[in-house]
Amino acid sequence: MHIKVLGAAAGGGFPQWNCGCPNCRDLRSGALAAKPLTQECVAVSADDKRWFLLNASPEIRSQVEGNEILHPRGPRHSPIAAIVLTNGDRDHCLGLLSLRESHPLVIYATERVRRGFTEGNVLYRTLQRFPGQVTWRALEPGKEADLGGLAVEAVPVPGKPPIHLEGNAPPEPGDNIGLLVRDPRTGKRLAYFSAAAAVTPAMRAAFDRADCVFFDGTFWEGDELIALGLGDKRAEQMAHLPVGGRDGSLRALAGVRAPKRIYIHINNTNPLLRPRSPERAQAEAEGWEVAYDGMEVVL
Ligand code: MLT
Ligand code: MN
Ligand code: ZN
Repeated sequence: MHIKVLGAAAGGGFPQWNCGCPNCRDLRSGALAAKPLTQECVAVSADDKRWFLLNASPEIRSQVEGNEILHPRGPRHSPIAAIVLTNGDRDHCLGLLSLRESHPLVIYATERVRRGFTEGNVLYRTLQRFPGQVTWRALEPGKEADLGGLAVEAVPVPGKPPIHLEGNAPPEPGDNIGLLVRDPRTGKRLAYFSAAAAVTPAMRAAFDRADCVFFDGTFWEGDELIALGLGDKRAEQMAHLPVGGRDGSLRALAGVRAPKRIYIHINNTNPLLRPRSPERAQAEAEGWEVAYDGMEVVL
């Protein structure tokens, strides 16, 4: 299985257009030896011909253009065989509306995420211009779906509805999932969990079976946005388990058996983005890598 990170950042990207936090400021000025990051999207393939996108970021056009593996091989063609959504957050779904050039799309999502994106969404009509423009395939926890070349299983993950649907209906388990992607030929497994408010025993079991884990690396600290004067919500209120601290994911996931462990969906405020920060050193000392645009993993 080939895994290519098209975008490693959380919503807003790095730097974020309206952000002058130390990370964004220092990236712009050149004081930080780091590269910009686009918003989270990962491509996976078993044969390097048919690619499956995990989430569809608002930057999908530049992500496709910047990665030759996703370029058309004919006058009207795309190697993107399907898109799998892990939740209905804007940074995971807005890209769907950019794929509007009358191309048939196959989208895997929970019923809850499908409804959240399609119902009452007048812009969704741009993906309904001809019969069969979008084929939705339902992901149900515990049931493996055959993507064609790769199999995917949805694992329920503590989370929440997307911000634009908060208060519309009570939270449901289908709001947020992780993906266990399996290559049937090799038996290799990728655990893709880019948004998680907590670690459940089922998630832990998935990580122990996986050859590679991608996990929610949004914030280092619970009060990261508050401390920087950028917002009033704690990471936990946004359904993101922080990486550091006594209750953070580094600690919660210590001893996970997956040989490769990678943080993704990194918010631009996160000190993990500073290559020489003590936080980065701590994560690396515990066997974690930090995803970047263009990162490749072969399982
Ligand atoms: C999140 O990861 O919590 C969301 O992407 C936030 C947002 O929609 O801005
Ligand atoms: Mn996000
Ligand atoms: Zn910033």
